[in-house]
Amino acid sequence: MRLTARVPATSANLGPGFDCFGLALDLCNEVTVDTEAEPRITWEGEGADELPTDGTDMVSRAIAATLERRRERHPGAVVPPFALHGVNRIPLARGLGSSSAAAVAGVALASALLGSAGLGDDRRAMFTVAAELEGHPDNAAPAVYGGLTVIAEGSVRRLDVHPAVRPLVLVPERLRMATDAARRALPTSVPLADAVFNVAHAALAVTALTSGDLDLLHAALRDRLHEDARLALVPEARALLNELRGTGIPACVSGSGPTLLAFEREGVTVPDPGEGWRALRLAVRAHGVEVVAA
Ligand code: HSE
Repeated sequence: MRLTARVPATSANLGPGFDCFGLALDLCNEVTVDTEAEPRITWEGEGADELPTDGTDMVSRAIAATLERRRERHPGAVVPPFALHGVNRIPLARGLGSSSAAAVAGVALASALLGSAGLGDDRRAMFTVAAELEGHPDNAAPAVYGGLTVIAEGSVRRLDVHPAVRPLVLVPERLRMATDAARRALPTSVPLADAVFNVAHAALAVTALTSGDLDLLHAALRDRLHEDARLALVPEARALLNELRGTGIPACVSGSGPTLLAFEREGVTVPDPGEGWRALRLAVRAHGVEVVAA
């Protein structure tokens, strides 16, 4: 059996939707398992030299976690030995959900390998296993469901994004931000006025993304809970974000950063941010993880 999981990059938060909103982007990692080949783990592409090959990587851990979960209901369930090869296109530690993508790929592959003892197309179950293992449900949700997702108390709501919404991610080549470090920078409590600000802007952001109103999106992508504290750690990203917003371009920090997420308007192209930045024009990906026979 030779199976490939294709799973998208994701941008969490979308400004005011801290820990709740996520967007799937058309930039996919592909992980192939081959039960006929000599068992080993290999990587190519983003982070290939730094990812472990001893089974402690997130894809392998998610395969093991899914198997363990399914054994509660199907005690005899087994996954045959396999070779695993990952083709990584999602930059690591940049706020584009690479770790969630790995977890979701592992859950989907394990499920497919388990056949009738797997999860079938139960997206909710896939989301739950991946989010619990990896810890960022706002990335796991769009990786599993595609489109725009809102999570609340463990439930996911998926929404279609208007075709006029055209994301552009600006990835700093040399800056990285581990999510743990980016979370430690956050205040533990916020003024009530800031919470109210975010509630209002989050509602506007959903309206703008689903209706394609880019003027509204420019006004809506404001946050008072996390962006300032994080941007203080990466002044280059803060300067670029201010510049984008100043020229009327809707923009925010992607996940915990330091990548920025911007949206191009009809006829308005975001200027090349210059040396040290990679600009990727990516469509919104309407569907989440898929597993195909390789
Ligand atoms: N909502 C999480 C955070 C996403 O901002 O820390 C991590 O990708």
